[in-house]
Amino acid sequence: MCGIVGYTGKRAAMPIILEGLKKLEYRGYDSAGISTLHHNELTHVKALGKLIALEEQLAQEPLAGSIGIGHTRWATHGKPSVPNAHPHVVGTTAIVHNGIIENYKSLRTELEAHGSQFLSETDTETVAHLLHVHRRETLLETLFAILPMIRGAYSIAAIDTRDPHTLVCVKQESPLVIGLGKNENFVASDIPALLAHTRDFIFLEDGDVAAITPESVSIYHHGQPVERPIKTVSWSPSAAEKGGYKHFMLKEIHEQPRALRDTLRGKFDGKTLQLSDLALTPQEVASIRRIQLVACGTSWHAGLVGKYYLEQIARIPVEVDIASEYRYRTKVVDSSTLVVPITQSGETADTLAALKDAKREGAKVITVCNVVDSSIVRESHGVLYTNAGPEIGVASTKAFTTQLAALYLLALFIAQEQKRLDSAAIAEHIAQLEALPAVIETVLEREEEYKNFAHTFHDYPNFLFLGRSFNFPIALEGALKLKEISYIHAEGYASGEMKHGPIALIDAQMPVVVVATASAVYDKLVSNVEEVAARDGIVVALVNDADTSWGKKAHTVFRVPEVPEMLSPIVNAVPMQFIAYYVADFKGCDVDQPRNLAKSVTVE
Ligand code: M6R
Repeated sequence: MCGIVGYTGKRAAMPIILEGLKKLEYRGYDSAGISTLHHNELTHVKALGKLIALEEQLAQEPLAGSIGIGHTRWATHGKPSVPNAHPHVVGTTAIVHNGIIENYKSLRTELEAHGSQFLSETDTETVAHLLHVHRRETLLETLFAILPMIRGAYSIAAIDTRDPHTLVCVKQESPLVIGLGKNENFVASDIPALLAHTRDFIFLEDGDVAAITPESVSIYHHGQPVERPIKTVSWSPSAAEKGGYKHFMLKEIHEQPRALRDTLRGKFDGKTLQLSDLALTPQEVASIRRIQLVACGTSWHAGLVGKYYLEQIARIPVEVDIASEYRYRTKVVDSSTLVVPITQSGETADTLAALKDAKREGAKVITVCNVVDSSIVRESHGVLYTNAGPEIGVASTKAFTTQLAALYLLALFIAQEQKRLDSAAIAEHIAQLEALPAVIETVLEREEEYKNFAHTFHDYPNFLFLGRSFNFPIALEGALKLKEISYIHAEGYASGEMKHGPIALIDAQMPVVVVATASAVYDKLVSNVEEVAARDGIVVALVNDADTSWGKKAHTVFRVPEVPEMLSPIVNAVPMQFIAYYVADFKGCDVDQPRNLAKSVTVE
């Protein structure tokens, strides 16, 4: 999730690009850079950290020229650093890129074997070298020539001294829009970057390549010229930043199919699952006898699901600890213990302290994290990135579902390395994982049902969430989501535990959200719900499409497509997010920045 801005016209490119990048800083902010073309020469400036650092540097060394490209980075391949910042310049071409080039490792090996010298650790630089090595008469022709060589999700913008007024770009499963001006045109990964200059946009489709000059925009698909409609956007700048959604949280809920695809991307080559950033030798994986998952809040809930995954798939005993508890208890850890901190931000103080303790005791530590080169990643021996992109809303949504996918991958990887699963079995699991984004898209299409529900229920003072087995943590997560953004008291419980206390709370004023999708304990969960109904509780059931048995038992029934039970938490989390979001919104709460909370809790 990086930000791209490009300009070609008559005005000075640098200030336009810089202002555009500022509007995209929410997409990534660990480094930034701009390249412009002037008098047939490419120049660039890059800086580490937020855009202000680039701005300060550009004030010292301004870039001349009326064509250029810029980038604000959210690191995926290679830590935040100046060499890894974009643009990447090779020969006569400069490029910026958003997304992931899946096959960059093999391309890089090949390019290096033929003499290309790389300056960064990024996947992007591979494309820059390909453009150089395979250059044709024009940049556009070169791009056509190299596109069949690269695999992945990407949007790329490039400029070249041989074609000094043309910006070339390509979009493949990563956003890119063209902004239309008078004697000038623009390109950006998102609309807010260009709203100060135009309201007329062309939304490129996957596979589109465009050549943009100040006077023209030519779009090609499979090498053939195509027409794309011009759309006029009426969004306010702040709505545009949120992609037209009312809140970042809602935008991030909707981003989950993309985030999951990015988390799974490039890990499985059809035979072997490769998690190279774990940096574990085959011997180290073979020697894992115990796993401790350590995290806070929503990430802890991901750990609770992860325990089921690791124990069922990899057959290794797992403990799940709240980091603030772990750090003060006696840790029984040795070199056969794998400690896995789970953290969206990579900055949570309790999780960081727990990690340091575990390392001191001799454990191997690999972190599941969303932020490249964050403090916790730097302290860990290895990492498994979630690739959800920046999460701005305080309530964690896409980070959670991608953490679940990452933990599933980790379980498969250990099972593969410890020879518990063969390649065919792994392939089957991966296919099931890869089917999830489309399932979640179906759930997102049913958003209105949750809004209607929230309209009726947002004034209730208490909620109970119930689940069992893999979906017990989803009940906990549903309750946490609701309480943190709507300030409604909510509890999550394992439904079998109801009779040991919480059942006393049930009356006609208590909505009870039950996660009742297909599972090995479905019948038992249904009996628990009967106990709720018998005490006049308001049953709100989340069931599968084919389950028609809830008409009489439940006040409200939400439906999701059926997926394998182990993967159902990833789907079932989405309705919990919608319930919390719409209840909070109807109550008029500050959804993205709830009271008393911070996105990263960097103090104990
Ligand atoms: O960045 P982390 O994943 O380490 O953050 C942990 C918790 O602070 C976080 O999940 C918190 O509970 C969220 N607000 C939940 O939505």
